[in-house]
Amino acid sequence: MLVIAHRGASGHAPENTMAAFLRALAMGAPAIELDVHQTLDHQLVVAHDDDLKRCGRDRRRLKNVHWEDVSTLDVGSWFDKDFAGERLPRLEDVYDILPKNVELHVEIKRGSSVYPGIEERVVDLIHKRNASARTLVSSFDHAALYSVRSLDEKIRLGYLMGLTTLQTALREMKDIDAESLNISARQVTARIVKAAHERGRRVLVYTVNTPAERDKLVKLGVDGIFCNYPELNLWR
Ligand code: G3P
Ligand code: CA
Repeated sequence: MLVIAHRGASGHAPENTMAAFLRALAMGAPAIELDVHQTLDHQLVVAHDDDLKRCGRDRRRLKNVHWEDVSTLDVGSWFDKDFAGERLPRLEDVYDILPKNVELHVEIKRGSSVYPGIEERVVDLIHKRNASARTLVSSFDHAALYSVRSLDEKIRLGYLMGLTTLQTALREMKDIDAESLNISARQVTARIVKAAHERGRRVLVYTVNTPAERDKLVKLGVDGIFCNYPELNLWR
């Protein structure tokens, strides 16, 4: 079963930072997940929320600020003083450090309705970095996934189910040829796994941080888990 480092090794370092990604790589993670938003001047920034209240106590929305307004903010101290001075990464910065054999799961937090042109910019970057084979684009914003698919008929997609019904999810996944159904550990059931597998889709479950939860999901037959502790791969 694939263990995907969720927001990097976010149990060990501040989520969605270079420190978290480097820690995940050092731990041998085969795949890393991160979240993407866009600044006013169209930079693709890696952060979970649409503002930095949680990480840097900055209340401004990313969509309303320029990259230079946020590029030097400390997004590490909230986690531990050892990470003071950790900066907000851009998606391109992550590709700079990512080995070619590591899969990257890029979650677009909101599509063009909030971040005009974000889908084009993500697809363009993936092309520029020659990273189509090792990148999977996911989103709860299914319009964004349709948009990504319209820009590239081959790009790998993960469909984040959210509150969508299984019937709609299966139909939309077929429409856009999403390779995985990404679903929360609270939602996933044997019926959902079976329905996805019958249609040739992988099932990836978030967020799973204990051996007991992992073992339950292995029994259910899921294909991967998003995990804040990449070493869960090894824990018995
Ligand atoms: O992509 C799986 C998971 O990351 C989705 O939820 O809130 O952690 O981004 P969230
Ligand atoms: Ca995410």
